[in-house]
Amino acid sequence: MKFATKAIHAGVHPDPTTGAIMTPIYQTSTYVQEAPGKHKGYEYARTQNPTRDALQTALASLENARYGLCFGSGLAATDAVVKLFKPGDEIISTNDLYGGTYRLFTKVFEKYGLVFRFVPLHEKGALEKAISPKTKLIWVETPTNPTLKLIDIRYVSAVAKAHSILLAVDNTFASPYLQNPLDFGADIVMHSVTKYLGGHSDTVMGFLGTSNSDLADQLRFLQNSCGAVPGPQDCFLVLRGIKTLHIRMQRHCENAEKIASFLYSHPKVGLVNYPGLPTHPSHAIAKEQMRGFGGMISFVLKGDRFEDALKVLSGTQLFALAESLGGVESLIGHPASMTHGSIPKAEREKSGVFDSLIRLSVGIEDVEDLLADLEQALEKV
Ligand SMILES: Cc1ncc(COP(=O)(O)O)c(C=O)c1O
Repeated sequence: MKFATKAIHAGVHPDPTTGAIMTPIYQTSTYVQEAPGKHKGYEYARTQNPTRDALQTALASLENARYGLCFGSGLAATDAVVKLFKPGDEIISTNDLYGGTYRLFTKVFEKYGLVFRFVPLHEKGALEKAISPKTKLIWVETPTNPTLKLIDIRYVSAVAKAHSILLAVDNTFASPYLQNPLDFGADIVMHSVTKYLGGHSDTVMGFLGTSNSDLADQLRFLQNSCGAVPGPQDCFLVLRGIKTLHIRMQRHCENAEKIASFLYSHPKVGLVNYPGLPTHPSHAIAKEQMRGFGGMISFVLKGDRFEDALKVLSGTQLFALAESLGGVESLIGHPASMTHGSIPKAEREKSGVFDSLIRLSVGIEDVEDLLADLEQALEKV
């Protein structure tokens, strides 16, 4: 099946008892057994739930993975991946990554003896320098947040395989509509389902996909043993959300491309980070590994003044000032004071998070309205 057909049909079947075309919300904690051990494949809802099963199969299919597992949040999914390893093991990660993932790695797992090395994986040669005999995992996020750098998954995968290291890719920003990391050799693909997969800013959830049966068994064991599972109501919402993923992503990309070109030629804008712009340093990789350039943009104002950024951030009417991304509505954010507020200025500027950097999650509204909103907000600078 091709992508749109999979988004609508994969993993879902009419309900066997009623014929309901939509997967029911199996809001139950347990399942009655005929005799001890004699049951219909479901024993306890932390371990299995039919609504979750349908979603896991559907998401695995969108990522060309043989196995899929859903978690209570994107971070809970990442937490399960790190728990595959033991004290002394080393994990190499992108240095420009989601702050919550950085916090999980450094503030939670370092104290259990895991060693993290944060390197600019978009720079060739940086990865090879960081590898040691103890390296067990490479954690990649591409495009990165908030400066939208791209990491060449095929290249990193080749290096990882040569050293028998696992590769996991956080595919949240691209969504499976634009990029399938397993097709480029990654072992695990991860999503904050909260974002494009859910698509309507109404659910928090995470996903892991893999085609390696050993890894799937270990991750399923962790999903059940640690228990960070999503509820059936949330699984239902995401099953509904993904039915329009392809249509939503097309519009996110179209709108973002137009907004990126508008910002690029705007006299008050100094720099635009959008992989679809031919001037973007990773444009060639984007064309190679993505099927479109996504709905995320970040830009820096000329003169890079914090107070100018605040004028734009409080000046938009359609773009809502909020964390998160990937919903149908457009959002605007200020990484230097929001997601990256705890990182010292000199440190964050090394990865491009300047005082006036503004991040947009471009929604699927009429682009003319979005452009007019940005134009009037930029006039306040
Ligand atoms: C790229 C990326 N990865 C992971 C996460 C964490 O996901 P969640 O908020 O669902 O735990 C986020 C959240 O913003 C994210 O943007």
